[in-house]
Amino acid sequence: MPRAPAKSSAARSPAKSPPRPDPRALLSDLLSWYDRRRRDLPWRAAPGERADPYAVWLSEIMLQQTTVEAVKPYFHAFLVRWPSVEALAAAPLEEVMKAWAGLGYYARARNLHACAQQVAFERGGVFPREEEDLLSLPGVGPYTAAAVAAIAFDAPCVAVDGNVERVVARLFAIDRPIREAKRELRETAQTLLPASRSGDFTQALMDLGATVCTPRGPRCDLCPFASACEAARRGETERFPVKAQKLEKPLRRGAAFVLTCGGAALLRTRPPRGLLGGMSEFPSTPFRVDFDPSRAHAHAPAAARWRALPGEVEHVFTHFSLRLTIFAATLPAPPPHIENGRWTPLARLTEEGLPTLMRKVALRAGLIVE
Ligand code: ADE
Repeated sequence: MPRAPAKSSAARSPAKSPPRPDPRALLSDLLSWYDRRRRDLPWRAAPGERADPYAVWLSEIMLQQTTVEAVKPYFHAFLVRWPSVEALAAAPLEEVMKAWAGLGYYARARNLHACAQQVAFERGGVFPREEEDLLSLPGVGPYTAAAVAAIAFDAPCVAVDGNVERVVARLFAIDRPIREAKRELRETAQTLLPASRSGDFTQALMDLGATVCTPRGPRCDLCPFASACEAARRGETERFPVKAQKLEKPLRRGAAFVLTCGGAALLRTRPPRGLLGGMSEFPSTPFRVDFDPSRAHAHAPAAARWRALPGEVEHVFTHFSLRLTIFAATLPAPPPHIENGRWTPLARLTEEGLPTLMRKVALRAGLIVE
C-alpha cells in the first residue's frame, strides 16, 4: 500500500487548527520585501546575477553553527588566499586548518578540504547542481545541500536553518518545540516554494528571521507576512517557537600545561579524530566529568616546578561545558625529547592557528594579549 504523505499537525486536527494564510499571496510579498531589504553579504551575488557555487558552498560550510558577523572576515581571507575550488584543493590541509582556527567545529575544515579535493580532482572543478548529488560530498548535510542547490543553481529547495524555523513556526503557529517539529517545519516551508527564484526565496526567509522575525522583539510592523501570521494574530509571537525543556550541558574538567623555555612554548598536535582533532594545543589531560585533579600531573609533558594559575579557563562546547585548570612552568633548558612536543616561539604563537579554547589558555598564562 502506498504510504500516505506526511501531514502537518493542522491537517491531523482540523477542529483546533488555526486558519492558515494563503502561501502564494505571502510569497510575492516576501520576494518584493527581499528585493528592497536584503542584507548585503559578501557571498551574495548582485540582484539578478547567479552566485559563484564555490563562494556559496564555502560560505554555507562556514555559516554552519557560526554567525554571519563571525564568518565575514574568514570568508574574505579564504577567497583571497584560495580563490577557486582548485586552489583550495591544492592547499596543504595544515594551512587550511590554521586559516580556520577560531571558527570552531574543526571537523568542518577537514571536510571542507576533502570536499574541495573531491570537486576539483573527481568532478573537474564543477559543483553538482542537484541536492541529492551535493549530499554525497564530505561535510555537506541536508541543510547545506539545499542551500547550495537553491542559492547557486536556483534548484527548487528550501534550506531550513534556525531563522527559517522560527519564521515558519510563527507564521503557522506550530505548537511543538523545534526539536520535535523539524520535519513539519521543513515540509511547511517547502509548500511555500515559488516556481522560480528559489535561491532568493531561501535567502529572504533567512533575512526575515535574522532582521525582522527576531527571537525577541520581532518587528511585525516591517514584516511582509504580518497580515497572515497566526502567531501575530494571536498576539503571541514570542511564544513561538515554543521552548523545549532546556537540557543542562554536563560539566567536564581538565588541566592544560603551559611549559615555556627560552622564549618558546611547548605545543603539540591533538589526535586527528575527536574533539579539536588535528588542532594545536598546550599538552592537556583528557576532559572528563570525573576529572581527578590529584592525578593531573601524570599528564604533564615534562618534570618541572608546575604551579596552578588562579581560577579556571571556561569554554562551552556543543555537548559539554569545560573548566580547565592551567599549570605553568618554565625550564632553564629544553629537555632532550618531549613526545609529540614542539617548541613554538612566543612571537609566533598567534600564527599557530590555536583553537579558541587554547587561545584562552595562552591569554590566561600571559603568553599573548587580546
Ligand atoms: N545563514 C546561513 N546561510 C546564509 C545565507 N546564505 N545568507 C544569510 N544567512 C545565512
